[in-house]
Parts: sequence; structure tokens; C-alpha cells
Amino acid sequence: MVRDYSQVLADIEMAIEGEDDWVAILATVVCELHNSFEDFHWTGFYRVTSPGVLKVGPYQGGHGCIEITFDKGICGTCATTQKTQLVDDVDQREDHIACSSSTMSEIVVPVVTEDGRLLAVLDIDSDNEAAFDENDKENLEALCALLATQFR
Ligand code: SME
Repeated sequence: MVRDYSQVLADIEMAIEGEDDWVAILATVVCELHNSFEDFHWTGFYRVTSPGVLKVGPYQGGHGCIEITFDKGICGTCATTQKTQLVDDVDQREDHIACSSSTMSEIVVPVVTEDGRLLAVLDIDSDNEAAFDENDKENLEALCALLATQFR
């Protein structure tokens, strides 16, 4: 299934226009994404809070682990490589941290400034296998690039 991001991206851009509070922006993005696609079962940000450390930020869904160091998790791999992690089957990834036993697939996208500074990663889990594709990657990377320009 190819998701249509046109409406949710328009809604997000309208909602955050002129907003300079980073947490409010992240919370709004998570809310809009999570409520737009039914098989987004956990949607959230992990923020870089100190060198090599990610801490959970705004999220929707069940309990998310609070801290992930860069050497752990698919989120840590995304943070280390600054490359999107598109995972069809999390059981095939040794680095996967299972915050929920029902998660089957995941996409993790870096939020990186134009000068290469990692700010956060956007983590989306689905209870469906292979729930994400290149269309999701392209749209979520474009969204995260926009968010990086809003960071204060
Ligand atoms: N699955 C992530 C951990 C975060 S929970 O899914 C919310 C990982 O492997 O890094």
C-alpha cells in the first residue's frame, strides 16, 4: 500500500508555521502522523540530549524506552550512520530493541541540520510486517529535513 502523505504534510506545515517551540513542533508532528495512518502503532522522536545518547521525546503509542545510546537499537544505528533504517522484519535485526513484543516492522529517520548535526531520530513502529517502503522513506526524510530547519 502506498501512503498518500500530501494531506498530512500540508496539515503539519500549516500547524507549525511560525512556531519556534521545538517540543511543540515535535509533538504536533507525532500526533498528525500517528493519527493519519492506522498501521503506525508507535510514532515518536528520540532526541540527542548528550554525545552518544538519545532520550525519548514526544510520542504516541505504548510505553517507549526512555534512553537509547548510539550503540544500541535500530535508533542507535540510525543515529550513528545518519541513514534511514527501513526494516521489514525487526526479528532480522540483532540491534532491534523491542519496546513492544507486537512490533513487526519499523522505520527510523534521522533529523539532521544542513551542516550535519544530528538533532533527533523519528521512530515509527508497526505491528504489520513490511509496513514501510521507499515512499514512506522519501516523505518522512523530507519532513525531517523541514523539521531540522525549525530547530531552535
Ligand atoms: N525499536 C527501537 C526502540 C524504540 S521503541 O521501538 C519505541 C530501536 O530498536 O531502537
